[in-house]
Amino acid sequence: MSATATNRHWVLTDRPKGGNFEQVLSLREEPAPEPGPGEYRVRTIYLSLDPTNAVWMQYDSYLPAVPLNSTMRGLVLGVVDKSNHEKVKVGDLVSGMGGWADYTITDGKNFGRVPNIPGLPLVAFMGPLGMTGATAYFGLLDIGKPKEGETVVVSAAAGAVGSMVGQIAKLKGCRVVGIAGGPEKCAWLTGELGFDAAVDYKAEGWRKALRAACPKGVDVYFENVGGEVGEAVLDLINIKGRIAFCGAISQYNATQPQPGPRNLSILVSRRARMEGFLVLDYNPRLGEMYQEMGPWIAGGKVKWKVDLDQGLENTITSFKKLFTGGNTGKLAVQVSEEPARG
Ligand SMILES: NC(=O)c1ccc[n+]([C@@H]2O[C@H](COP(=O)([O-])OP(=O)(O)OC[C@H]3O[C@@H](n4cnc5c(N)ncnc54)[C@H](OP(=O)(O)O)[C@@H]3O)[C@@H](O)[C@H]2O)c1
Repeated sequence: MSATATNRHWVLTDRPKGGNFEQVLSLREEPAPEPGPGEYRVRTIYLSLDPTNAVWMQYDSYLPAVPLNSTMRGLVLGVVDKSNHEKVKVGDLVSGMGGWADYTITDGKNFGRVPNIPGLPLVAFMGPLGMTGATAYFGLLDIGKPKEGETVVVSAAAGAVGSMVGQIAKLKGCRVVGIAGGPEKCAWLTGELGFDAAVDYKAEGWRKALRAACPKGVDVYFENVGGEVGEAVLDLINIKGRIAFCGAISQYNATQPQPGPRNLSILVSRRARMEGFLVLDYNPRLGEMYQEMGPWIAGGKVKWKVDLDQGLENTITSFKKLFTGGNTGKLAVQVSEEPARG
């Protein structure tokens, strides 16, 4: 069956401007590639959609920009369907850096085996126990270093990373305030995820609401958004506060360079620290996350949601949700069926 498989893949034909993704990505169909010596082929089951994909389309950052006229890069979770690799066999479940495609060929360097934690659905390894969970876990604990009783604020709080950050901070004994767009997301944060307060940054008077939600100021800010939201939180940062700079989604589709926070000098008077981090650097420490987060996820102490769309052909429509607030939890596309698991 796989010898005649077709590979649909999204090809990047130009650099996007202002979020015009439809105009720069085109879906092509070709015979699926065959693995060479020492390589294996992964059939994509789940494709992760991440804000940083927009950066990869545009310019060199921590990874080189995706070359024009090649398959768009993306994180995939899939099953090995052909293998010439001595340590990987057909049927193995793996995740790693692949493409917006039905199939990826790899020598295994950018892929790892999906761990088998009983009771957890496969899709959990695309969300809370995948790159998303690792970003929240290491960004909050390693960079933010929250202490019991402190106030932690997180932006894009109802998104993939943000929803995990708030719950981990609660488990560490903090007061947690989420910032998200719209009353439904805010109700989800306080009603289901146990956040102490949620502020709708799209509502009138949200800066005042934020101040009221943080009566003792902000000790740790987990920054996902940048721009005005970031500035408003910075105003409230406490002496020796920590800002874990995870991302700035409000700026990823900007057509002009964006100004930095106008109140950056507050870091001086508050003796506060702002530090960027990349989840990729934590790959060697993923075991720590599985050990602590695995039982939280399996035991329902940390709740999670994958916002799952269907079909590779719908990838762009789905991807755009990240920039309009259309997703709650981790955004992903299901590209093919999961194999039966024993
Ligand atoms: N440093 C790392 O290694 C690393 C790893 C993964 C992710 N990240 C970063 O973490 C952040 C969150 O990523 P994610 O995967 O968890 O995505 P996500 O939060 O699930 O989705 C993005 C959310 O951002 C919010 N948003 C979009 N445009 C906005 C704007 N202009 N102003 C304010 N909020 C906006 C939307 O929620 P609302 O409805 O609330 O507006 C949207 O649902 C991103 O900045 C991403 O680049 C960094």
